[in-house]
Amino acid sequence: MKHNKYKILTYGCQMNESDSMRMGTQLEQLGFKECSSMEQADIILLNTCCVRESAENKIYGKIGEIKHLKQDNPEIIFGVVGCMAQKEGEKLFKRAPHIDFVLGTNKIHELNNVINEIKMSRHHLTELAPSDGGTPEEVLPPDRGDLSVWVPITYGCNNFCTYCIVPYVRGREHSRPMQAVIDEVKNYSKNGVKEITLLGQNVNSYGKDLVNVDFADLLYNLDKIDGIERIRYMTSHPRDLNDKVIDTIKNSRHVCTHFHLPVQHGSDRILKAMNRGYTIEYYRELVEKVRTAVPDCSLTTDIIVGFPGETEEDFSQMLNFIKDIRYDAAYTFLYSKRSGTPAATMDNQVAEDVKKQRLNKLMSVQNNISLSINETFVGKCVEVMVEGPSRTDANVYTGRTSTNKIVLWQKEGQEKQGDLLTVKITHPQTWILKGEAQYDKQ
Ligand code: 5AD
Ligand code: SF4
Repeated sequence: MKHNKYKILTYGCQMNESDSMRMGTQLEQLGFKECSSMEQADIILLNTCCVRESAENKIYGKIGEIKHLKQDNPEIIFGVVGCMAQKEGEKLFKRAPHIDFVLGTNKIHELNNVINEIKMSRHHLTELAPSDGGTPEEVLPPDRGDLSVWVPITYGCNNFCTYCIVPYVRGREHSRPMQAVIDEVKNYSKNGVKEITLLGQNVNSYGKDLVNVDFADLLYNLDKIDGIERIRYMTSHPRDLNDKVIDTIKNSRHVCTHFHLPVQHGSDRILKAMNRGYTIEYYRELVEKVRTAVPDCSLTTDIIVGFPGETEEDFSQMLNFIKDIRYDAAYTFLYSKRSGTPAATMDNQVAEDVKKQRLNKLMSVQNNISLSINETFVGKCVEVMVEGPSRTDANVYTGRTSTNKIVLWQKEGQEKQGDLLTVKITHPQTWILKGEAQYDKQ
């Protein structure tokens, strides 16, 4: 066969990671094998993100690199798929005529039809309209003996936070039928998967478009599946995390004790302008409730700095807020103007240098908090699920706690992927905990 290797480069969130795996399955059905670099590939796909301008710039850079590869080998099939493909559509061909096809977010399960068409005619092809046959989640990821898999439970978003492009490129929210998710997870478990991460833009609204099921019911049922040791989920919307879900997590055996609750800002005025649907007081009470129900849980968040109209006063409220809450970690972003969203045309856009100064300040405050929380682990034992050797040193092993902290230790030789192992923490850092495996003491 002439074409036989593929490479998918993935940008953005876990939903894109999950979609890329599912595109891999389809290409493997056509007889292609995954390869490690674009230079070896006959099919190159960029699965794109457009949540911030910086992501788009990076992707345009990569599209430029691929132009040279195509000049050397015009037989390469090059597709741009996912969120930026959905947003830009045919405009991408004008900017980069060496792209063969553009495939939108609702169409990833139709990849093989597109590849076949391209092979026959090699014309610029664009597929963006929602599909009338099938859905992306019907394709499963390839079975590669993975320990951990992504499981999409909802697609799209109905929230329309005023800064966010996602509802425009991923469309309206829909939930997968509960039994389909349960059956899929049971199958994974038979194949040796031990950890699942449920994915959705707002997992807490799972089931709103179904009859008589909600996110808590889904968690309850997945918790009973033999062999699944850890259940994670992302992302929660604070407005929709209700008592039933908190209770279900508290009483579960396998749902992880990590809460990722994107707050986005620490000022009520800005939260309102963002259309987040909650106040700081509501959020504080929610955190209280979560920490009371699950005392050793970890808490992480997303925060945007420099939303239009953000004053020094708003920013200082945000700093005070994160000092009070004491997150284990925060993913912090510079506000990025996304055309088509309401915030893009709001008055008082914050100057780039002011945004950057505020972001640096925020990161340094949060890093100190993360480090001081991690320092409380010195001398304590934590349970990790063994993932394997670390990327940089084969003699160092890595795993994560239920609270999603990354733990590193010197290899003992008995480590087996998927085992639950006790590690005594000796050297905490801002983002990781280093320690000693406790095999002899188990
Ligand atoms: N600018 C900066 N950050 C954004 N996010 C979403 N849209 C934007 C934007 N326009 C952030 C939010 C979200 C995370 C995935 O990305 O914090 O939770
Ligand atoms: Fe974007 Fe808000 Fe939907 Fe998250 S909940 S994807 S931030 S619109």
